[in-house]
Amino acid sequence: MQLSTIHFKNESSDPIMIQTGCLIVALNTEQSIATQQPALAQLEHGLLQRLADAGELPTAVGKTITLYHPDGLAADRLMIVGTGKRAKMNDQVFVRMAQGAGRALRNSRATTAHCLLPELDVPGRDLSWKTEQAALALDHSDYIYDVTKKPADDAAPATETVTFSNSTEATLTRAAAIAMGVRRCRLLGDLPPNICTPVYMAETARQMAEEIDGLDVEILDEEQMQALDMGALLAVGQGSVNPPRLIHLRWRGGPADQKPFAMVGKGVTFDTGGISIKPRELMEQMKFDMCGAASVIGAIEAIARMGLALNVDCVVAAVENMPDGKAYRPGDIITSMSGKTIEVQNTDAEGRMILCDALTWTARTLEPQAMVDVAALTGACVITFGHHATAVMTQNDELAGELLEAGLEAADRGWRLPLWDEYQEQLDSHFADMRNIGGAGAGSITAGCFLSRFAEDQRWAHLDIAGSAWRWGKAESASGRPVGILAQWLIQRAG
Ligand code: BES
Ligand code: MN
Ligand code: ZN
Repeated sequence: MQLSTIHFKNESSDPIMIQTGCLIVALNTEQSIATQQPALAQLEHGLLQRLADAGELPTAVGKTITLYHPDGLAADRLMIVGTGKRAKMNDQVFVRMAQGAGRALRNSRATTAHCLLPELDVPGRDLSWKTEQAALALDHSDYIYDVTKKPADDAAPATETVTFSNSTEATLTRAAAIAMGVRRCRLLGDLPPNICTPVYMAETARQMAEEIDGLDVEILDEEQMQALDMGALLAVGQGSVNPPRLIHLRWRGGPADQKPFAMVGKGVTFDTGGISIKPRELMEQMKFDMCGAASVIGAIEAIARMGLALNVDCVVAAVENMPDGKAYRPGDIITSMSGKTIEVQNTDAEGRMILCDALTWTARTLEPQAMVDVAALTGACVITFGHHATAVMTQNDELAGELLEAGLEAADRGWRLPLWDEYQEQLDSHFADMRNIGGAGAGSITAGCFLSRFAEDQRWAHLDIAGSAWRWGKAESASGRPVGILAQWLIQRAG
């Protein structure tokens, strides 16, 4: 699958003189136009001022009006974006505003734009942050899934190039790399489960490694996993005709003796629940159950494309969870790769079954300096956080701090849940070292507790993205989260 993002470039000449399809400006209605956009204050003897005086400037966050060929401007269009109340401007509002501008741009016939959104004041944020976030927001809005549904003949064209004033090469390269990782993540998430199978995910990883210099891939099939005694991962996969894969992508941008940072993703390409089958309502959403895998693949793509000076590994357990004559069942006792036994009480708690073996493999073969797994793991996480936060779980306060901080920086926020020892006993089993569900109460936490038993004393954290990985409702689509957290976390580790 060929992916491309908007091209981002620098263009620091006078905005009034820039020949582009669309000049995008943010204006709040509480400050004079001259204060906010000195260059535009001159525009056609007060065009903007007359709009302001008439109360026609958009006030709501991300609302836009577009003027065509205003006199005194070299651009074909002038798009004015509402910022909301000045006192309420913050990171999230800025991103929402820029996404609104992006939607209007995507729906226009313009294919190029010059973006002045970073001129807007955002408390505590510099031009580089605003430029990166504006670029990512525009690219987010530019993405439209089109693999199995072709756009209408008269559909508006995608945006080709967006320029920014006074931006640096470093900022734009980083934004483009992350945008690509986010697109990768969203496309894999949006693809239907009859296309995006475990083998398809492995093929995607293989193609990425071919395309990107220095990115290596290794793919383990069922036989190789059997030889490694990955009993838990294989148990989940055995009910499907689509065979499982363990996908390992490897980026060595750092010194040869530097221990790597590892990301581990849940890649359940479809989750029926297995024998503990899910109700029919909304089961189709379980195509998104591989979004953890998609996000770690997207994150390592971003890291590799920006050429980050750090050693990074990405490990994906890709399987399909189906009910079948061969499927694993409630009551089965499975021996994981670690040797620990698991009593299956619900085949729908399959994410932790595949991740436990992936974590054991990662800890033992890669010996990382930190290991973060990402999974749409529990419905309870959606109940707790809705769609706004990624749940962060770890027994390591320092690692929690790093991930929460990265989330703030990337406007891709996480929030911590505790993994206190007191929760562990909910996993006690009569017949095995543990059972695979924690019973009533604290469903996201007991899932995290289960995984903690396979972290092998590594610095480890678990991100539950059941709520944040995709947007529900009308324009249901993968969100590309938490590529932002992961990429930012790794960028900060590279110093
Ligand atoms: N993939 C689901 C979790 C999920 C549910 C993600 C809704 C996104 C939206 C996971 O495999 C699952 O089925 N979890 C069960 C666990 C339970 C059986 C302990 C759940 O949350 O109901
Ligand atoms: Mn499940
Ligand atoms: Zn699942």
